[in-house]
Amino acid sequence: MSSDLAPHCVVPRLTTLWLGNPYYHEEEVDSTNTRINVIAHAGGTHGTVMAAETQTKGRGRFDREWHSAAGENLTFSILLRPNWPAHAAPPVSLAAGVAVAEVVDLLLPGTPELKWPNDILWQGKKLAGILVESFVSRDQVLHSVLGIGLNVNQLDFPGELVDHAVSLRLATGRSWNRVEVLASLLARLELWLDHLTDPGTDRLISSWQRFAPWIGQPISVRRGKQKLLGTALGLSPQGALRIKDRQGKVHLVASGDVQIDPYGPHQHGRRASASG
Ligand code: BTN
Repeated sequence: MSSDLAPHCVVPRLTTLWLGNPYYHEEEVDSTNTRINVIAHAGGTHGTVMAAETQTKGRGRFDREWHSAAGENLTFSILLRPNWPAHAAPPVSLAAGVAVAEVVDLLLPGTPELKWPNDILWQGKKLAGILVESFVSRDQVLHSVLGIGLNVNQLDFPGELVDHAVSLRLATGRSWNRVEVLASLLARLELWLDHLTDPGTDRLISSWQRFAPWIGQPISVRRGKQKLLGTALGLSPQGALRIKDRQGKVHLVASGDVQIDPYGPHQHGRRASASG
């Protein structure tokens, strides 16, 4: 059976210059991130995209599972071959987060939220997740794989995801054309990925922070067994999270699992990496 995400349906709708060229589509893969990585090692080019109807081993950050019902959502990955030294690599995941947030902002009632570093939430529930995996040798990024899962038309989520995940359809009460959403996402992603070569990240950071109403609020970040509690101050130019602890010391956090409003009544729902 031919899918609406098959190349002959998607490619004519793309308005991008380099993103999605080539574009691949599979019915079932282990993980589109894994498959794009294989393509990268076989010499695949910058901008290659693979979308899949279903993933048997879809994964999120911290090796969590990414659940997505077959044929209902968008699960895809992008091959990037940037010319960046690893120590100065720009925040690809933040650029992707802004792109996804800007696109879904046009479709949803109410503004989506970005939860650092790269969860896209709507009314506290997870709508989309981003996983960037980079392959580095001698301080050079050889390639990066940018994977995105966006819940589009899924109505039922299993187990505890019921309380923590949302889709465009659940949020709006109507189903969405996945090709149109994918084409819009790739167009916006191309724009923001191109901006990553700009000197300075002011524009990216301020656009990202526009979707982070929790800045200025109490927050906690878990890193392994450590937990840092404080007030979210915003992002550094490199995309690290700035937190002021109770003693007034400012911490720069490069990675971790964020809980917004750690003292609030919705603490469980807001920390969960739903669908991931
Ligand atoms: C997260 O929220 O932790 C990130 C989730 C990323 C899921 C996407 S779906 C497409 C790509 N393939 C994967 O295995 N993961 C990413």
